[in-house]
Amino acid sequence: MPHQNTIAVILAAGKGTRMHSDKPKVLQTLLGETMLGLVAHAAQAVAAQVLVVVGHGEDQIRKAHPDLADGFVIQEEQLGTGHALQVAWERVRASGASHCLVLNGDTPLVTAEVLEDLMNTAQEGADLAFITTVLPEAGAFGRVLRGPDGEVTGIVEAKDFDPARHGPDTGEVNTGLFCLSVATVENILFSLTNANRAGELYITDLVGLCVESGLDVHALTREDASELMGINSPLELAQAEERLRAGITDRLLSSGAILHQGASIVVGPNAVVEPGAELTGPCRILGVSKVARGARVGAFCQLTDAVIEAGATVREFSHLESARLETGAIAGPYARLRPGALLMENAHVGNFVEMKKAVLGPGAKASHLTYLGDAAVGAGANIGAGTITCNYDGQNKHKTEIGAGAFIGSNTALVAPVRVGENTVVGAGSVITKDVPDGALAIARARQSNLPGRGKKP
Ligand code: UD1
Ligand code: CA
Repeated sequence: MPHQNTIAVILAAGKGTRMHSDKPKVLQTLLGETMLGLVAHAAQAVAAQVLVVVGHGEDQIRKAHPDLADGFVIQEEQLGTGHALQVAWERVRASGASHCLVLNGDTPLVTAEVLEDLMNTAQEGADLAFITTVLPEAGAFGRVLRGPDGEVTGIVEAKDFDPARHGPDTGEVNTGLFCLSVATVENILFSLTNANRAGELYITDLVGLCVESGLDVHALTREDASELMGINSPLELAQAEERLRAGITDRLLSSGAILHQGASIVVGPNAVVEPGAELTGPCRILGVSKVARGARVGAFCQLTDAVIEAGATVREFSHLESARLETGAIAGPYARLRPGALLMENAHVGNFVEMKKAVLGPGAKASHLTYLGDAAVGAGANIGAGTITCNYDGQNKHKTEIGAGAFIGSNTALVAPVRVGENTVVGAGSVITKDVPDGALAIARARQSNLPGRGKKP
């Protein structure tokens, strides 16, 4: 449950130069989810409100995350992480929250449990609580400084770290996760200076300043929390993505999902694969997809926001996006189901069938080489090979209705808007431009003429 007295601020205005990409860093993805989406998901689980400080690539971020846009705060110039928090502070104060959780937008593996721990520490009386961990190679991360009795005295960024001045490098680093008491840290936040090598306002300087002011600073040290460190390069992104993937498939196996070639199976963090669902790798189940108990997904499939109900099957090489298969339905191999495709109970689409905003009624079939767009097909209808709904006239989309029990001969073009009634038969090769009444046979093609002796000479 989110804490009503806590607001979260995600710092996401930086460019991420080290990713060598046109995309702002926080839009890089792991298992199909953006870093920002993953961080926000964890923050939303614990905080009543989430602000996101954006700057670089603001338009792109807004487009990718309209869900978060209400909480956007613009940092026009990226003058450092401390400055980013200053920019958001007016809204932090206006929220009336007593505590402010700060997260970096480039730490996608952060979890609600970790944040919960941090918040509990802060709410037990610390003015500033933050999470540290010890790394074998501390690299470019901020170093945590401690006094003779082990008490935290500050954080020094790697660029500014000098063993002669700061003592030996212990490898203890700042993860970038802070929880601040809004009332007490406020004055200190606005006294930050940029007297460092980068000339930036560092949020990390808050630690030393709070200690100097006699505030209660608490460092929560987690063992082996390398997953909480920010991602700065393509290599780190790949490592984090694999870690997330393996964690999810391990969890699915423990819960009773059946995974063949599990090492090549990708299940996104927001997807559901129920116990008893069966997946064969390589395949990708992304977005808010669901594969229910007893449903099967074959190799080389990609599902995004797709729902596969109990006992339905997606065969090899199929591609589904915002599509749904009801019980007993079968799609593929080589099916392409685009948004709004629905296969009702026991409906079946075979190879090279594309569907978009189209419903196949219970038991209806389209087995080969067909396009069904903006179409409703009734129960038990049979759509012959090569049937095309001509749904687009160059300006508008129109609907095709096919009644229950209809039999559409191969290579039929259905020029929408058009209705083909129940229990009709349409002759192969027809171009149907007019409605066909229930129970009728429709043929719309040139008659065949045989001209004797006009073929090849023997
Ligand atoms: C930061 C910490 C470092 C810590 C590390 C953990 C500082 C000064 N350093 O370093 O101690 O070990 O994270 O991963 O905080 N950002 C803004 N506006 C700015 C600058 C940055 O919004 O003006 C955002 C970035 O988009 C990013 C986050 O803040 O999401 C952290 O910035 P980044 O440059 O990645 O900091 P690090 O050098 O990794
Ligand atoms: Ca970083």
